[in-house]
Amino acid sequence: FIFVVKNNQERTVQLIAHRGANNIAPEHTITAYKKAIELGADFIEIDLRMTKDGYLVSMHDDTIERTTNGKGKVSNFNLDELKKLDAGSWFENRYKKETIPTLEEIFETFGKKTNYYIETRLVNNEPIMEEKLVKLIEEEGLQDQVVIESFSPDSLKAIHRIDKEIPLIQLIYPDKMLEVDEKEIKNYAIGVGPYAPKVDREFVERMHKAGLEVDVWFDRKNEKEYMKKILSYDVDTVFTDYLENTEEILSRE
Ligand code: G3P
Repeated sequence: FIFVVKNNQERTVQLIAHRGANNIAPEHTITAYKKAIELGADFIEIDLRMTKDGYLVSMHDDTIERTTNGKGKVSNFNLDELKKLDAGSWFENRYKKETIPTLEEIFETFGKKTNYYIETRLVNNEPIMEEKLVKLIEEEGLQDQVVIESFSPDSLKAIHRIDKEIPLIQLIYPDKMLEVDEKEIKNYAIGVGPYAPKVDREFVERMHKAGLEVDVWFDRKNEKEYMKKILSYDVDTVFTDYLENTEEILSRE
C-alpha cells in the first residue's frame, strides 16, 4: 500500500507492479516478480499467453522476439521449446538464465506471499484460457489472492460463469471511455481499468457511485506526470513501472 494524505486524512492505495519490477529486471520473469514483492508491491501483474500445447505462460507480447532470443508467436511453440529460451539477456546479460515462467511456476514460487493481478486475452478470438486459469487458481488455493483483468468482456464473463467469486476488472481501451456502461460491467466485474490520461474526477466518481473500483494504468513515459493527479481523484489501485521510487513520486509537490 502507499499512503496518500488528503485533507489531513491518510488513505491507502494498492500498488500493482506492472510486469513485475520491470525497470530493474527483465519483465515477467521470476526475478522481476521477486524484486517487486521485496519492494512492497501489493500485486504482481502477469500477462497470460497460451502455448501450442495449452500451458499458460507469462508474456506481454504475442510474439517472443522482444523479450527472448527466439522468434515467432507464443502459440506456435510447445512449452518445452519456450523453456529453452533466454528471457533475460535482452535486458542485461546477467539475467541470461531467466526463462519464460508458467503461471503454475509463478504460483508455486510465491504462493500466498503476494497477490496476483492477471490479464487474460482471447486466443484466436476465443475465451479458451479461462477454464485452465480458474483450475490453477483453485488448485493452489489462491482464490483470495487474485484479481483478473481483461479488455475482453467475453473472457471476464467466461470466468464469471465458472467462479462468481473471483474479482474481475474490465480494462477500458483509451478510445472507448465514452462507451463505458457501468451498469453492464457491474453485472460481472468489481471494477474498471482505464488509462490514466483519459481519467478525470467525474469518471472516478461515476464509477464509484455504480459500486465499481477504479484501477489505473499508465505508459512508462507518463506515469510520473499523471500519478499525483490520479491519486487525488481517489482511485483505488494504480499500476507502476517505478516501484522503487513511487513514494518519492508521491511526496514531490
Ligand atoms: O493492459 C493494461 C495494463 O496492464 C497496462 O498495459 O501494455 O502492460 O498491457 P500493458
